[in-house]
Amino acid sequence: MSTPAAEDTTDRMSAEAPTTLPSAAATSPPADAHILLDTVSVGYGETVIQHDLSFGVRRGDVFIIMGGSGSGKSTLMRSLSGLLAPQAGRILFDGESFWDAPLRERTRRMRRNGVMYQSGALWSSMTLEENVALPLEQYTDLRRSQIHDIAVYKLALVGLAAYCDYYPSEISGGMRKRVGVARAMALDPDILFFDEPSAGLDPLSARLLDDLILELRESLGTTMVVVTHDLASIFAIADDSVFLDAATQTMLTTGNPRDLREHCEIKLVRDFLSRGGE
Ligand SMILES: Nc1ncnc2c1ncn2[C@@H]1O[C@H](COP(=O)(O)OP(=O)(O)OP(=O)(O)O)[C@@H](O)[C@H]1O
Ligand SMILES: [Mg+2]
Repeated sequence: MSTPAAEDTTDRMSAEAPTTLPSAAATSPPADAHILLDTVSVGYGETVIQHDLSFGVRRGDVFIIMGGSGSGKSTLMRSLSGLLAPQAGRILFDGESFWDAPLRERTRRMRRNGVMYQSGALWSSMTLEENVALPLEQYTDLRRSQIHDIAVYKLALVGLAAYCDYYPSEISGGMRKRVGVARAMALDPDILFFDEPSAGLDPLSARLLDDLILELRESLGTTMVVVTHDLASIFAIADDSVFLDAATQTMLTTGNPRDLREHCEIKLVRDFLSRGGE
C-alpha cells in the first residue's frame, strides 16, 4: 500500500467506556471543541518528541500546527489522525477519548478522518480515479458504479475531472497534491488532516491549494488540521494554531497567527511568524 502504514498500533485499548473531559482539566480550550488534547505526549517508543500538549480545535476551523523542522508536527498529526498512540494524555473527539475507546470505535472514528500525507503517497500504478476510489473500496460496500461516480466527483471538486484516467507520473506536482486532497475527501470526512500541503509547490500553485482548502471549509464545513511552515499559507488560511518548540519539546502558545505575530510575548514565535525580522 502506498499509504503509510500505521507506525505504532500499540493497543492501549482499555475496558473503559469513552469518557468526557472533567471540567477541572479543561484549560483555555472550549469544552465543546471538535478535537481536544489533554496533557498529551507523543513520540516513538521511549523517546518523547512533544509533551504536555493541551489545546482545542473548534469545529469548522482551519487549525495550523506550526514549528521548526523536526519539532514533531508530523508526529503529532499521526497521533491526531489515529495512526500513533500517544505516550500520555487524552485526545478527545466531540468529548470522547479516542485512544481509550474499543478498537471497533476507533476504526469507526478513523474512517471519518481524511488524511493527506507529507509524502503525497499516491499509487503510481493506478490512475487518479483508482487512487481516489481506493478508500471507498476499502471502507464501503458501495457498488463499483457508485464508487466511480464519487471518485469522479471528488476529482472534479479539485479541478481534475478531465484527468481521471491519467497516472500520477503524467501530471504536475501541484496536481498530485490536489489528487491527495481528493482522496482524503473520498469518504466525506469530518476532519481533514494535511501534512505540508504546499511543500514543493510554486507560489501560485500553493495559493490555489490554499484557495481550495478555504473553499472546502466554506462549502462542507469540514474541520481542517494543517501542518505547515509556509507563512503565506498560514496567514491566508488559519483561524487558529499551535506552535511546537523543538528545544523544550512542548507547545509554546496557541492562537490566531496574525494575533501571535503582533502580540505574542514569546519572541521566538513572533520571529518565526515574521521570518526573523519584526
Ligand atoms: N518513525 C519514527 N521513528 C522514530 N523517530 C521518528 C520517526 N519519525 C520521526 N521521528 C523523529 O521525531 C522527531 C520529529 O519528527 P517529525 O517528522 O514529527 O517532525 P516535523 O516537525 O514534522 O519536521 P518537518 O518540518 O521536517 O516535517 C524527529 O527527531 C524525528 O527524527
Ligand atoms: Mg513533518
